Amino acid sequence: MLTESAASPRTAPVVARTPEELAGLRPRLGHVALVPTMGALHIGHRSLIATGREHADSVVASIFVNPLQFGPNEDYGRYPRDFDADFAVCAEEGVDVVYAPSVEVMYPGEQIVTVSPGRMGEVLEGASRPGHFAGVLTVVNKLFNMVQPDIALFGQKDAQQLAVIRRMVRDLSMPITVMGGATVRDADGLATSSRNVYLSPDERESALALSRALLSGADASARGPVGIVGAARAVLDEAARATPPVELDYLVLVDPQSFTEVADDYRGDAVLAVAARVGATRLIDNVPLTL
Ligand code: PAF
Repeated sequence: MLTESAASPRTAPVVARTPEELAGLRPRLGHVALVPTMGALHIGHRSLIATGREHADSVVASIFVNPLQFGPNEDYGRYPRDFDADFAVCAEEGVDVVYAPSVEVMYPGEQIVTVSPGRMGEVLEGASRPGHFAGVLTVVNKLFNMVQPDIALFGQKDAQQLAVIRRMVRDLSMPITVMGGATVRDADGLATSSRNVYLSPDERESALALSRALLSGADASARGPVGIVGAARAVLDEAARATPPVELDYLVLVDPQSFTEVADDYRGDAVLAVAARVGATRLIDNVPLTL
């Protein structure tokens, strides 16, 4: 909406650094789609932005590496940060506003009040990364308050994050439509992720076992939960003996809304989710299934 008509060249996104700057722009943006990101934008983000453009007058992309969602021994310090490259992606994709606040702007003092994911934040990613989802929900809530979007888009690649955000929006009665974007994969099957840049060529080769395992599980969907998990596990058992090895954190078939493990006789929609470490890099992936 801040851009010119379709006939004229697309104008560069406006950069806002503070909530006040955003508030000044908001009345001109119309129906807004927000794509929250931590930068290091890849084709998955491009696809979310494109979907946002289809469903709203304006797209706001936020770029903020959120310290609250990283554990003390995680990669907050080395997380890739390249504002110019990210801005160029936003410009190419027709983003209207890039919101890139500093940590001081986002967290001006001690963050005493946070948003709790409840029991959904205690399983899988939440169990492996204590406090992670409270950090995600708190920053997403702040972004919602600052941007006032009508729609917010998140990748299905972070399926538990998407489910927890959907639940927050429902349980806290937020007037926002949450949309999930299908996982985008590179040609070799690896799910696109900002963390893929950490992988050496050998590690990347080993990491392909994650998508192979999910594919194997999906192919076995007629065999029910035990058959699905068994087929995927066989691939990961072999990958555990590869060089470098794939060190499995979890492989589980869950209910897509609650993220609790499904029973052996379950029928309906499910998500087969995997997390593993290859070298120093922790990777997650998943595939939605119908049993
Ligand atoms: O998925 C991400 O990049 C982050 O978790 C998010 C949603 C931008 C919150 O910091």
